[in-house]
Amino acid sequence: MPHETATRTALVVLAHHRADSLSAHLARRAVARLTAAGYTVDLLDLHAENFDPRMTVADQPDWGDREKRYSDETEAHMRRILDADVLVAVFPIYWMSVPAIMKGWIDRVWNYGFAYGRSKPRLAGKRILWLGLAGATADDAIVPGMEQVLATQLSEGLAYYSGFADSRVRVLPDAEEQPQTLDAHGNFQVGEAIAGAAREAHYAAFVATAEGHVDEFLAAELVEA
Ligand SMILES: Cc1cc2nc3c(=O)[nH]c(=O)nc-3n(C[C@H](O)[C@H](O)[C@H](O)COP(=O)(O)O)c2cc1C
Repeated sequence: MPHETATRTALVVLAHHRADSLSAHLARRAVARLTAAGYTVDLLDLHAENFDPRMTVADQPDWGDREKRYSDETEAHMRRILDADVLVAVFPIYWMSVPAIMKGWIDRVWNYGFAYGRSKPRLAGKRILWLGLAGATADDAIVPGMEQVLATQLSEGLAYYSGFADSRVRVLPDAEEQPQTLDAHGNFQVGEAIAGAAREAHYAAFVATAEGHVDEFLAAELVEA
């Protein structure tokens, strides 16, 4: 349920190894957008915080004990999710999925007894926006399928399963300066890099599209609140 306090809280989760990446830039833009909308924002930069995606014995579910206390690291990450009314996850799409570090965050933190396994889910009513950056170009026929497969995994398989009220996946194609396509024979092609004013315009439009998704996500909350 949303907090009763006046201040709304958000957790922005970033999965990227470079601080100068487009993904990191979009995460910072999302933080700015949320802050401007009055949210108190917690930015979880998984790489900067040295998150370890590997499953451990301490974080393995015990099916006989949904009250199991997990590792301190995982318990702290659970707290950060609990404290957030809304979550925004920003990541480069790797093989039609999230990068390994974000998959590990899901596997270890969205754990039994916390995210699922209770008649009244602890995360009930929360909302999440997944922003996935894609190297594929906007006209690539694979893009709708990519969004669909991510929605099946992240919205159906994870967020709604964990009691979320709203989960939406938005794929942002054309993330690369050199467009990535397949030719008629299925060969991977790297196109000419965009430069100069065209490059500026390209990324301005890209960022505006991403910010539009954040705004639309936040506007939906205002309607439902
Ligand atoms: C391991 C790996 C797998 C990738 N898989 C996909 C993919 O399945 N679909 C796609 O459109 N782009 C794919 N890409 C391209 C990335 O999505 C793209 O490089 C990234 O979104 C660019 O954003 P960044 O500058 O923040 O890294 C892949 C890139 C890597 C390194």
